[in-house]
Amino acid sequence: MPSIALVTGANRGIGYEVARQLATRGWIVFLTGRTLAAVKRAASSIDSSVTPIPLDVTSRVSIEAAFGIVSQTVDHLDVLINNAGILDQDEGSIFDLPPERLRRMFETNTIGSLLMTQTFLPLLRKSGSARIINVSSGAGQLTDMDTWAPAYSISKTALNGVTGKFAAALKDSNIAVNSVCPGWVRTDMGGNEAPRSLEEGADTIVWLATEAPISLTGQFIKDRKVIPW
Ligand SMILES: NC(=O)c1ccc[n+]([C@@H]2O[C@H](COP(=O)([O-])OP(=O)(O)OC[C@H]3O[C@@H](n4cnc5c(N)ncnc54)[C@H](OP(=O)(O)O)[C@@H]3O)[C@@H](O)[C@H]2O)c1
Repeated sequence: MPSIALVTGANRGIGYEVARQLATRGWIVFLTGRTLAAVKRAASSIDSSVTPIPLDVTSRVSIEAAFGIVSQTVDHLDVLINNAGILDQDEGSIFDLPPERLRRMFETNTIGSLLMTQTFLPLLRKSGSARIINVSSGAGQLTDMDTWAPAYSISKTALNGVTGKFAAALKDSNIAVNSVCPGWVRTDMGGNEAPRSLEEGADTIVWLATEAPISLTGQFIKDRKVIPW
């Protein structure tokens, strides 16, 4: 039986590349994203075995609808990849950060992953050994804070908190939960100047989904190595 994964924000960028690589390995992949047309286009460009599902991680209704589709199609889920994320390119300074911007970042980057994990846990618990991978960012690293993109960074710090709390709560289960920093990657978000290719950005995420020891949990990981929070 092939392994089964769901990737959020997979119609483009790092999420798309992760979905593509898993499908290439013969996995059953649910490729999700905000709009039906975009996920259909992305899925058909990979393989007819990839299932496109519209899923906006800021909407509980949308998450539950997607859960309904997935649970009617498969009886378990092996890997959940919470990849969907937003960044305002010109955020300005923490000195005049509007709370609304922080709330908006949290809705997608933090609470979206929380709701996705809560909703899909019943299917993940039915896997022999499951993994939850939260795509975070070095920008959220408490040990290396700088002034760049405060709302985005704080939302990723909080996402790392979500990772740690789920890892602790699931420590006696067969479900590993980790955060990943993909590095600075050439996507719409990362821009053309970024040094990493899509393949490089997806590498640690795909490694965690497929090959990493299941005992590796509750960690922040970059380039297949644990890094400080
Ligand atoms: N690129 C980098 O250098 C870099 C560095 C560190 C971390 N990351 C993280 O890596 C992840 C992927 O980034 P990327 O560079 O691939 O970004 P991207 O090219 O901008 O793609 C972002 C994806 O997230 C989706 N998305 C946004 N809001 C969503 C929502 N509410 N519900 C569902 N999907 C939503 C987008 O869908 P639409 O097409 O509908 O907008 C798109 O598919 C993000 O979490 C990002 O923070 C990226």
